[in-house]
Amino acid sequence: MTMHTRTLGTTGPQVSALGLGCMGMSGMYGETDRAESVATIHAALEAGVTLLDTGDFYGMGHNELLINEALRTAPAALRENALLSVKFGAQRGPGGEWYGFDGSPAAVKTFAAYSLQRLGVDHIDVYRPARLDPDVPIEETVGAIAELVEKGYVRHIGLSEVGADTIRRAAATAPIADLQIEYALISRGPEREILPTLRELGIAVTAYGVLSRGLISGHVAPGQEYAANDFRAHSPRFQGDNLQHNLTLVESLRKIAEQKGVSVAQIAIAWVLSRGEDIVPLVGARTRERLGEALGALDVTLDAADLATVEAAVPADAAAGERYAPAQMAMLDSER
Ligand SMILES: NC(=O)c1ccc[n+]([C@@H]2O[C@H](COP(=O)([O-])OP(=O)(O)OC[C@H]3O[C@@H](n4cnc5c(N)ncnc54)[C@H](OP(=O)(O)O)[C@@H]3O)[C@@H](O)[C@H]2O)c1
Repeated sequence: MTMHTRTLGTTGPQVSALGLGCMGMSGMYGETDRAESVATIHAALEAGVTLLDTGDFYGMGHNELLINEALRTAPAALRENALLSVKFGAQRGPGGEWYGFDGSPAAVKTFAAYSLQRLGVDHIDVYRPARLDPDVPIEETVGAIAELVEKGYVRHIGLSEVGADTIRRAAATAPIADLQIEYALISRGPEREILPTLRELGIAVTAYGVLSRGLISGHVAPGQEYAANDFRAHSPRFQGDNLQHNLTLVESLRKIAEQKGVSVAQIAIAWVLSRGEDIVPLVGARTRERLGEALGALDVTLDAADLATVEAAVPADAAAGERYAPAQMAMLDSER
């Protein structure tokens, strides 16, 4: 397998066409295995994945320290290729509770100082607020990151889950490399207004939730239960009738996947890859096995007939249930 590359917007870095999202290695999807997490990061780097995505609040530093360990124990050549995309801003307590977001300039610089230490690096490749702080103009948050860029602590500025107006205001303040947003066969919201705005401004997408948290991976069984601290225990799409409905979509995809001799997850990832050279899917693999499956999507070609079949099987808006619970939906500037 040859690793293809894509560029994060007109001003951002060249990255592997698939990025590795490390969030699930720090709790969000239940129990984790540290040794397997490190081995998965190493396997990704060996396969040519250069983009590693994290957030300072994923396990409140746990995820950054894990990446630090993986980079320290990786061969030097691979370590040097790694590009780190870091989100900041979420306010959380020791029990994992959420208190909102802080995008004020002093907080931005403080978050960055801690992240650099935890990651063990002298700069962050792409730094982004995880959500819009409703009390701080985006110009101030982005302006503070731009100061970090000037001083060499950050290379590029990214955004996350913000809408078209905020994207325009941010881009008028400083160059923006990419927007991170949920985008998948069953999460097509960005197509309405956000993607056209990004394309007009030369900003790329790093797409998360391309498997809708595993829901459209083909590995979720009807009636599957999740521990209370697992995101999926509270996600509307994984509840009762919604789950049953959504799994019928997966079975339609499975038929297409079987005909092509690939897996359901590979079809779902390949569909996102097919949406444009300006889109880089972040896969949330937590094990080498899942990573290997995800990387296989790079070799899946969906021609026009395949795409039509896939989109007929899973039409836009086919999913039952919102992508987040109501309290979290309310924090999404991208949904306004
Ligand atoms: N900006 C934001 O607001 C935001 C929000 C969420 C995530 N993110 C970033 O995006 C990354 C990916 O997002 P996500 O975790 O929601 O992604 P996802 O790839 O949609 O879901 C990941 C889950 O799918 C399951 N899965 C089944 N087959 C898989 C396969 N072949 N490859 C990978 N996963 C498979 C895994 O669960 P099991 O291991 O249980 O099977 C895994 O934990 C995160 O790690 C994080 O860095 C950003």
